[in-house]
Amino acid sequence: MPPPSPSNSRFAGILPVRAWALSEWALLPLRLFLGGTFVFAGLQKLANPAFFNSKSPASIQAQMAGAARLSPIRSLLHAMLPHAALIGWIIAYGELAIGIGTLLGLKTRIAAVAGAFLSLNLFLAVSFHSSPYFTGADIVFLFAWLPFIIAGAGSRLSADAMIARAAAQQAGIASSPLVAIPFETVQALCGNYDQGRCKALSNRPCSCARCPVLHARLPQVTPVAIKTFDRRSVVIGSTTVAVVAGAAFVTGFLTTSVGHLEASAVSGEKPSTSTTLPGAGSNSGSGGTRGTMLGPASSVPIGSAATFTIPSSGDPGIVLQLSKGTFVAYDAVCPHAGCQVGYAPSAKLMVCPCHGSEFEVATGQVISGPAPHGLTPLTVRESSNGNLYLQ
Ligand code: FES
Repeated sequence: MPPPSPSNSRFAGILPVRAWALSEWALLPLRLFLGGTFVFAGLQKLANPAFFNSKSPASIQAQMAGAARLSPIRSLLHAMLPHAALIGWIIAYGELAIGIGTLLGLKTRIAAVAGAFLSLNLFLAVSFHSSPYFTGADIVFLFAWLPFIIAGAGSRLSADAMIARAAAQQAGIASSPLVAIPFETVQALCGNYDQGRCKALSNRPCSCARCPVLHARLPQVTPVAIKTFDRRSVVIGSTTVAVVAGAAFVTGFLTTSVGHLEASAVSGEKPSTSTTLPGAGSNSGSGGTRGTMLGPASSVPIGSAATFTIPSSGDPGIVLQLSKGTFVAYDAVCPHAGCQVGYAPSAKLMVCPCHGSEFEVATGQVISGPAPHGLTPLTVRESSNGNLYLQ
């Protein structure tokens, strides 16, 4: 029986067309996607002044505090909260460095390990409670990094491969490129392959390793050449990393500067609930309404919102006056990762500043995720003496 071959009609459809020749390109689309996404994520943080402003609900401080409410690593997040700003810078520049390294195929394994570490932490801190689990992006990113930890960037469009080739050339080591060829071609070359036997091996089973035809004499690589190769790899690799890191730092710095300039020039509307109700701190029955007094109803004009602290849980709450005398209130902790949602008057929606979940004002139901469900409703009533009570 003839060996299976892509050209053999009997086996047509069994072997993917040109799969063996294209396998070196297989990981390139995933590498470009991961690299591009991490560059974008890093630049987006650097360009957003609110990310580093501890007073903003979209800040790294607010996001970490929110994540610390629900995350399985909440003790670690609590311990790191005082250093949130530093962690924000490390994440932003880390994402930029990981993305550039991955896009260029430069120190790809190191970039992939760092990317997987970051994705694992984001999974534990932010998307651990996504349900079903595959709706959270971080776990997908975590596993998408694994092929690059195992195999590196490969030889196609990869700075690592170019550096290795340049170092080999300078060390005088001939670099023979790896090529994928079908096994039947090897068998045909391997000394008159015939029905599973090899004439060049005295009719013994065909074996590439022992084939005298394929066993070419390769030039000997001397220890000096290997040392030179190692040294040149380090020099060329370090120089390339230094140049790319410098360019990344300048890009990050310029992005941060432009982001701050734009923020001061443009006053876009953000979700905001600037009014905070003082609260009475104790149950009361005054005015004919029982519950915990939050503050004067006049502090929440029609079409606006105010925040308060829910005494039983310590969570932030949000109360809105929909029409005259009609109040709705919710636990303002976002069910996605625990950030505090705010009210966006222009959109007439409650919006989470961390990942953009949107909630219906009248019902608290989620309109768009990633929040898996709506906000927890609370009951707030206005007493006859004009105060709001949480019941
Ligand atoms: S915490 Fe992620 S959308 Fe709210």
